[in-house]
Amino acid sequence: MTHIATRAVGTSTARVDGPQKVAGLAPYAYEHPVPDPAYLVPLVSTIARGTVDRIDTAEAEAVPGVITVLTPWNAPRLTDQAEGEYVVLQSPEVLYRGQIIGAVVAESPEAARYACDLLSVEYTATDHDTRFRPDHPDAYTPEKANGGYPAEYERGDTDEAFSAADVVIDEWYSTPEEHNNPLEPHTVVALWDGETLTLYTSTQHPHGVVAALAPALGLDSSTMRVICPYIGGGFGSKGGPHAHDVLGALAARALPGRAVKFAVSRHDMFGYVGYRSPTASHLRLAARRDGRLTGIVHEAFVQSSHVTEFVEQAAVPLRNLYDVADVRTIHRAVALDVPAPFWMRAPGEAPGMFAGEVAMDELAVACGIDPVELRILNEPEADPETGKPWSSRRLVECLREGAERFGWDPSDRSPGTRSDGRRLTGTGVAVATYPHMVQPGSQASIRYRGQGRFQVRIGAADLGTGAWTALTLIAADALGVAPEQIDLDLGDSALPYGTVAGGSSGTSSWGNAIVAAAGTFRTRFGGTPEPGDEASATAGENSDLESYTAASFGAHFVEVQVDRDTGEIRVPRMFGMFSVGRVINPRTARSQFIGGMSFGISMALFEESIRDPRFGHVLNHDLAEYHVPTHADIRDVDAAWLDEDDFHATAVGSRGIGEIGIVGSAAAVVNALWHATGVRIRSLPARLDDLL
Ligand code: MOS
Repeated sequence: MTHIATRAVGTSTARVDGPQKVAGLAPYAYEHPVPDPAYLVPLVSTIARGTVDRIDTAEAEAVPGVITVLTPWNAPRLTDQAEGEYVVLQSPEVLYRGQIIGAVVAESPEAARYACDLLSVEYTATDHDTRFRPDHPDAYTPEKANGGYPAEYERGDTDEAFSAADVVIDEWYSTPEEHNNPLEPHTVVALWDGETLTLYTSTQHPHGVVAALAPALGLDSSTMRVICPYIGGGFGSKGGPHAHDVLGALAARALPGRAVKFAVSRHDMFGYVGYRSPTASHLRLAARRDGRLTGIVHEAFVQSSHVTEFVEQAAVPLRNLYDVADVRTIHRAVALDVPAPFWMRAPGEAPGMFAGEVAMDELAVACGIDPVELRILNEPEADPETGKPWSSRRLVECLREGAERFGWDPSDRSPGTRSDGRRLTGTGVAVATYPHMVQPGSQASIRYRGQGRFQVRIGAADLGTGAWTALTLIAADALGVAPEQIDLDLGDSALPYGTVAGGSSGTSSWGNAIVAAAGTFRTRFGGTPEPGDEASATAGENSDLESYTAASFGAHFVEVQVDRDTGEIRVPRMFGMFSVGRVINPRTARSQFIGGMSFGISMALFEESIRDPRFGHVLNHDLAEYHVPTHADIRDVDAAWLDEDDFHATAVGSRGIGEIGIVGSAAAVVNALWHATGVRIRSLPARLDDLL
């Protein structure tokens, strides 16, 4: 596509929002100052399926400071109930434990919480089923998986490939239910002014919240505004609104002119705001003795809900990662009495590539080939799914360069033979791939303010990962000025349309819009704009992406230590080598890579939401019992990338980087555990007792 000369892009730049952040001037949603707010605490169901027969509100209403108690019988009605996740307090039906069935609004959070505890509820409970299992009698094949991918895919004849194979790997791999857990929970501040609604909500997509909720609330999108300039971590669950946004809006409707504040508690972060489905993958690889893949069959079983269908696209990545003639991948889902799963940290790729890349390690062992060489041997020339050329696929260089920098030793691959005193040591590798996604429709406007300053406006969202800075650099280059001359506005649906900060697509999509707006601006005003001169544009279609397949790639190398006596696992070292096009801001990009790799360690060794089948809720619903790594668990984690431009992908030569660090990293840890101990982990998280 048409590209621009880059100067600021590619330079390591401190966050432009850093000074506001350290000075406490970068408010998260809940912190936006509003005069005299009321506070909301929700009541959630203690049954997993059935109906609420009665809620006794008298005691709660008598608590000093209580303003109102909402129930399924008195809550304002929604206009549109098409999307199950947004149907809040519209009927007494209970679809999962932890569903919002009421709320108290009070003058203080303490009064609201106390009063909420005084609500007494009568239910009629019916049988429920929250037990995820791949052989569930109600498992079905959906039409589509998340991301719009067809649930089923086939090329060639896999039966033939397997009957002719020298070597077959045929195993099950599983990943547990996991919850996003950004440090800033989901929060909302809702304020009605007549028929106009303003939501301050922690979201990866301000315009998306308007588009989703305006119809439900019976509003024209022009009378709803969503503001979110800063976010304390997104991880996917903030990619769309959830029940709390609807509840906040409904509660505030009864208090015209007065804001209602609602911070989802850490316990409820394991409830109605999305999570990663557990996955079970039946994966079969067929190969020749020399390690050349001849067939792949990946059946991925995932959990959906009766609230809305969500199908984690775990079987998608193996469709085009390796050069294989015969491939069949299929998703199967089962709707249980659970909340709706949603996006979490590379949905699809993260669990799917765990299965795929552990299976590849098993194939390397079965064929007696170095696992780095096995990947190189199966590298496709062109996209095997579509036959299109890659815009730039330098995975082999990631593997070779990464192996070199990490100090990979192909002559030392026998398992359970190295030690460092009482600890067994091992190394593992896995690759990463993530599609380069560009969402259509982002718009940007640019206005010259005089004195060399340009106002750039776009309704983008910064999860905390650095969009403020990356877009400043892109705008500077697009206008041919210095980054210091750019004043950026983002995080507000009143700004020109911004697409979602999700699918690693944000910077690509918004950047293209800014480049388009700058092109219009420069054409119109040349080098002599007057104060007030303004131009706006929508990101153009990138026709290159019709003739090329663009994706980001990477290779993870991990060293582990396992205590022989206790099984205690340590990850002293991890290195990721990436191919992602031009890196816009090396400083924040490195953080995204090593953050994603830390998620991989977390997925491999720590995270697991344990749902109690008797009651239907997540037992370990806090950060004491839902384990995430601490600083002591994350040691020498480093990332590097190839120097490249991909002008087929975006106008500044970049591809997406948000999720590539997450993909494959858990497999690399587990593959290193096999090398250290000879024990093959196929079910996450790996625990010390698995290794003894
Ligand atoms: Mo990301 S999990 O696509 O928000």
